[in-house]
Amino acid sequence: MRILILNGPNLNLLGTREPNIYGSQDFQSYFEQLKSSFPQVELLYYQSNIEGELIDKLHECGFSYDGIVFNAAAYTHSSIALADAISAITSPVIEVHISNTFARESFRHHSYISPVCTGVLVGFGLDGYKLAITSLLTP
Ligand code: DQA
Repeated sequence: MRILILNGPNLNLLGTREPNIYGSQDFQSYFEQLKSSFPQVELLYYQSNIEGELIDKLHECGFSYDGIVFNAAAYTHSSIALADAISAITSPVIEVHISNTFARESFRHHSYISPVCTGVLVGFGLDGYKLAITSLLTP
């Protein structure tokens, strides 16, 4: 079982970026927790601030991985190209947002990628990633 955790722009700053919204834990330490929670799963983590690199990663892993947990961050609200990439691949993609985007500015209420994702988890903090992996493991 192989699952890719894919994080978009500014999520490399988790832990220091707006901790009142995103919490104070950095993603690398959370990723270590995830790996110990799912020892039976081969977890790969990739983060990029560049839209094209996220698309390349979806193409690279999206035909062979058992699932992709994707926080596209601000590109969620702007990127038709990411939505097209998700449509093009065969692996199921779960959309995750740490914050409750619906409780924030109206420009965060629309997601270009939700219609082409298998499921969406919004507002559960970092636990959203764990819940997404659990959903991929559930037959
Ligand atoms: C986010 C929500 C987005 O609106 C925002 O641009 C982010 C993070 C979240 O995880 O809550 O960068 O995807």
